[in-house]
Amino acid sequence: MGLILKGIFGLILAFTFYSVITIYTKLSTVPKTPVYEDIWWGKGDPAKENTNIKPFKVDISKEIIDDLKYRLQHAVPFQQPLEGVKQHYGMNTNLLTKIVDYWKNNYNWTERQEFLNQFPQYTISIQGLKIHYIHVKPQINKQSNIKVLPLMLLHGWPGSVREFYELIPLLTTPQKGRKVVFEVIAPSLPGYGFSEASNKPGLNTARAAQIFKNLMGKLGFNMFYVQGGDWGALIVNRLSILYPENILGAHSNMCSCMSTICNIKFWLLGGICPSLIGTKEEIPQFSPIFKKFVQDLLFLEMGYMHLQATKPDTVGVALRDSPVGLAAYIIEKFTSWTNPEWKNLDDGGLTRKFTYEKLLDNVMIYWVTRSITTSQRFYAENFNKAFMAEGLNEIPVTVPTACARFKHELSIQPKSILKHGYLNLVQTTDFEDGGHFAAFEVPDLLANDVYDFIKKVV
Ligand SMILES: *[C@@H]1O[C@H](CO)[C@@H](O)[C@H](O)[C@H]1NC(C)=O
Repeated sequence: MGLILKGIFGLILAFTFYSVITIYTKLSTVPKTPVYEDIWWGKGDPAKENTNIKPFKVDISKEIIDDLKYRLQHAVPFQQPLEGVKQHYGMNTNLLTKIVDYWKNNYNWTERQEFLNQFPQYTISIQGLKIHYIHVKPQINKQSNIKVLPLMLLHGWPGSVREFYELIPLLTTPQKGRKVVFEVIAPSLPGYGFSEASNKPGLNTARAAQIFKNLMGKLGFNMFYVQGGDWGALIVNRLSILYPENILGAHSNMCSCMSTICNIKFWLLGGICPSLIGTKEEIPQFSPIFKKFVQDLLFLEMGYMHLQATKPDTVGVALRDSPVGLAAYIIEKFTSWTNPEWKNLDDGGLTRKFTYEKLLDNVMIYWVTRSITTSQRFYAENFNKAFMAEGLNEIPVTVPTACARFKHELSIQPKSILKHGYLNLVQTTDFEDGGHFAAFEVPDLLANDVYDFIKKVV
């Protein structure tokens, strides 16, 4: 009897062991990297394309600016906020009133347009779309032995190239003690700001990466460095996976391993016992996420994502029609994503790190280009079964990578997880400051981190 029980027990043990090994092997199998043909995103059938580079200046018609002024003057009075709720019901309309007053009375578009035009900008047609980009070459004297390296900067949502205006001079001007300087190319994502939106479904992060690889090729850069946050970080990831031969190094301020193994390790193992996946220093950074995730992140902060991933065109109608609605929707993100504590403040903390002027520059880029709907569609293009099934999240990055971890980033992963997704992780830096919009908020910290990284890989 005892022998039979022992036998059965042994069989169960062996079977369990076998299953675990099989599942682990299956999950660890890296799918083949997809090879994408160039798709024509322009209207109708592919046509012959004029790929000349054209200089570009922001030059918005008087009609659009007059119309904006009219809409701001005639906005329906805001709903009074509940008493004492700070930013907990979304943007507090007392705060919004202050921002809109500034917009009406102090924000001078003539000046801001000049500001936006301080860097050389161009457009070029890629796969049927007019893509807008800033291109700044450093001024260095010929005798200096400072090396110039091409660097592409990629923004996200609800951002724009405006996020990079303070960062660009730091990267394109020789810095004391640094032996390299950058030639910066900062494009607007397709459907964002001054870049044309796709006419066909399917333009996701992988396809955006393809467009930007093609853009760099057209500019004569077959090999280049990349930096990005938010969607920009995801596109940096896709560029690294799909075109490792073109990417010299990837700097990300939102590194994340999203493979099945990483998800199991991070959420399951990390949730049960954080010390299994993180060091003593890392645990306070990522561990609160498990407790906070369901309530604070999933339910309180991710509603916009669900909306944009499913019905971007519906909410887009309202936001395209109402500048005050657009400002509330966009600027709200610059409170809680910069620092979650700012939701508890009457003024949303905004002026601690930004100015109304800066924040409105970014809103204006969405408003004058009428691009909020097309920017939101990017969520639908990325969060869908067909694209997920391509398995890009399962493919690790092999190019040299730096992960900058800013204190208030929405989600921070420990090194042990990142190492699964980035096989050549050269640098991870932890910052005691900064949130989701690092380039916009702490450009000096970000610039230094990029320089430190490049020094290691160049
Ligand atoms: C806006 O700025 C321009 C350029 O500096 C200036 O000429 C104009 O008077 C300003 N408009 C207002 C309303 O202050």
